[in-house]
Amino acid sequence: MVETSDQWITERTGIKNRFLVGPGETCSDLGARAALDACQKAGVDPADIELIVFATITPDMMLPATACLVQHKIGATRAWGFDLSIACSGFLYALQVGVQFILSGCHKNVLVIGMDVMSSIVDYQDRQTCIIFGDGGGAVLLQPSESASDGCFVDYLHEVDGSGGDFLCMPGGGSAHPASKETVEGRQHFVKQDGPVVFRFATKRMPDLCVRLLERNGLTGKDVDVFVPHQANLRIIKSAVERLGMPMEKVIVNIEEYGNTTAGTLPLALSTALSSGRLKKGDLVLFAAMGAGLSAGAALMRWGY
Ligand code: UT7
Repeated sequence: MVETSDQWITERTGIKNRFLVGPGETCSDLGARAALDACQKAGVDPADIELIVFATITPDMMLPATACLVQHKIGATRAWGFDLSIACSGFLYALQVGVQFILSGCHKNVLVIGMDVMSSIVDYQDRQTCIIFGDGGGAVLLQPSESASDGCFVDYLHEVDGSGGDFLCMPGGGSAHPASKETVEGRQHFVKQDGPVVFRFATKRMPDLCVRLLERNGLTGKDVDVFVPHQANLRIIKSAVERLGMPMEKVIVNIEEYGNTTAGTLPLALSTALSSGRLKKGDLVLFAAMGAGLSAGAALMRWGY
């Protein structure tokens, strides 16, 4: 579809595969499947979920919120919920929202979903974006723990820099440029990205936040057991890892398999970490993300099971 090669994509991004949804399959379909899976693993009846925070930039529709569609699909009859839209930082920010509702004592079962169907907004004539993005994501269920040894949230540091908004955006379809013949003809309903600018932001801001977060908790990269970074580009991950001074063995990397699934990368990486047995009870886990906004974030957790 575009002038590129497997060799270029592999060398410049580390990506080998991307998964795309099947015909008629939507973001809420994937979200509901992941949510039910998380509930089943946790032994929680969906009817006992109190809040659903759904991080996505590819909702089924602009309204209603995808969280509402998932609430209905999984039978979470007592839950409220909403969507959170901050692209690749979405899951980490949604996680933080969920954590606050647990820490405040408001809720005991919070479902956090990070999911994107990027194929619905990717321009397959644009080689800056179409070679990176794929569809997918996952869900986690947050619950209060009895003690820190049963797992706990440690700290977070999130920042946005709105001055960089134009470097990664989808111009059409919002109140600035409502859908029209012109926006469609101008391909404005697709993601636009200045790759090198976003790359420079990612390689600086993401490790910066990680280092500052670790430092204020009296920690260094050496204290981290498992690092779960946003999977945007293998070169971005490696540069962050080098800055943090940790071996690659501590880093969860599955970009080769899934590409960049935007809000989906962190829960997908968690899934990889769990299924490969690399995440164990008591591990100190560092999460990092960055993306459109421009936005970035880091969070520390003591893994609980
Ligand atoms: O998660 C959301 C946040 N997004 C990101 O984190 C993405 C960050 N950016 C990137 O990952 C990289 O910038 C890209 C993968 C998008 C592009 O890689 P790059 O190494 O920054 O390439 P570039 O745009 O600087 O282009 C270098 C060369 C150019 O050719 P010339 O001018 O040197 O002859 C491009 O035209 O590579 C060319 N090029 C390609 N060639 C083959 C750019 N894209 C492609 C392509 N296939 N897909």
